[in-house]
Amino acid sequence: MRVLGIETSCDETAAAVVEDGRRALSDVVATQIDVHRRWGGVVPELASRNHVVQVMPVVDEALSRAGVGPDGVDAIAVTSGPGLVGALLVGVQAAKALAAAWGKPLVRVNHLEGHLVAAFLAETAPAFPFLGLVVSGGHTSLYAARAFGEYQLLGHTRDDAAGEAFDKGAKLLGLPYPGGVAIDRLAREGDPGAIRFPKAIVKGADLDFSFSGLKTALLHHVKKHGVPEGRGLADLCASYQEAIVRALVEKAFRAARRLQFDRLVLSGGVAANSRLRAAAAARAAEYEGMSVFLPAVKLCTDNAAMIAVAGTHAYLRGERAGPELNADPAWRL
Ligand code: KG4
Ligand code: ZN
Repeated sequence: MRVLGIETSCDETAAAVVEDGRRALSDVVATQIDVHRRWGGVVPELASRNHVVQVMPVVDEALSRAGVGPDGVDAIAVTSGPGLVGALLVGVQAAKALAAAWGKPLVRVNHLEGHLVAAFLAETAPAFPFLGLVVSGGHTSLYAARAFGEYQLLGHTRDDAAGEAFDKGAKLLGLPYPGGVAIDRLAREGDPGAIRFPKAIVKGADLDFSFSGLKTALLHHVKKHGVPEGRGLADLCASYQEAIVRALVEKAFRAARRLQFDRLVLSGGVAANSRLRAAAAARAAEYEGMSVFLPAVKLCTDNAAMIAVAGTHAYLRGERAGPELNADPAWRL
């Protein structure tokens, strides 16, 4: 079966056609990064307006790259939350209109579930149950994934998301949006041990995360020493990145060990981080029998193929959305 996925929850307008929940026949992403960069972050109203312009061309492109017309699609899956309400509404309305016009069933998908199941588009997919860590611009959440549609939240961030820590940190250093990409690039030339940042770990609440203290530590560092250039900037980026990565890897593996998971799936935009990928793979190699699944970078950041995967299984479970479907900006998974 083929599902058309549509995703507009933040600043990427995306559409994809996925076959049998496993193979992306097309995966089109129109990014708005250039629109938002001059403002230093995503401007919700601009995001909505750009989605309006992009959504139909992106859907057309996804169908054409997949080599199918509307008749070749069995269902439409759309992200209805969480995310920016105006941005979500554009995708939801487009999906409802297409479902009505083409006479196709519609299913709603939680954006976080999309991230969790992106790994099923890789050649080697994880098996259930697995421990899933979603690390994105808006979320840092650890889930026990027992089956498609069955997720238990084990821990989450108390304040900033990991992606926010990257983005806000980058802003302090005068680096362009999205900060994660800029820090990742600069950090490659730097020494992660150059500057000591506090451990981004919450005491007591064991599987929760906290990144705001780290951001404050960076602010103090910059106030005291200024923003360095050249090698100094690379060292600062590498050290800051290392503190975020260490917190994520430590928590994820602690949870996996305690709850006896032998599969860990990383996803979300921050899972594109080269240091996080290397550190997670290295840590897994230390533990016998532990497998880490890292979706390709393109599948870690926002895309519609992952929405189509989640939508395929929601459809197979019999879930359907009607014309009353609305955006649900705070939908919890
Ligand atoms: O999943 P995503 O595309 O959108 C949300 O659902 O939020 O994640 C975006 C976040 C941004 O905070 C961005 O800075 C971060 O992912 N990001 C990265 C990297 N690429 C994207 N963070 C660290 N290293 C990267 N290479
Ligand atoms: Zn996302």
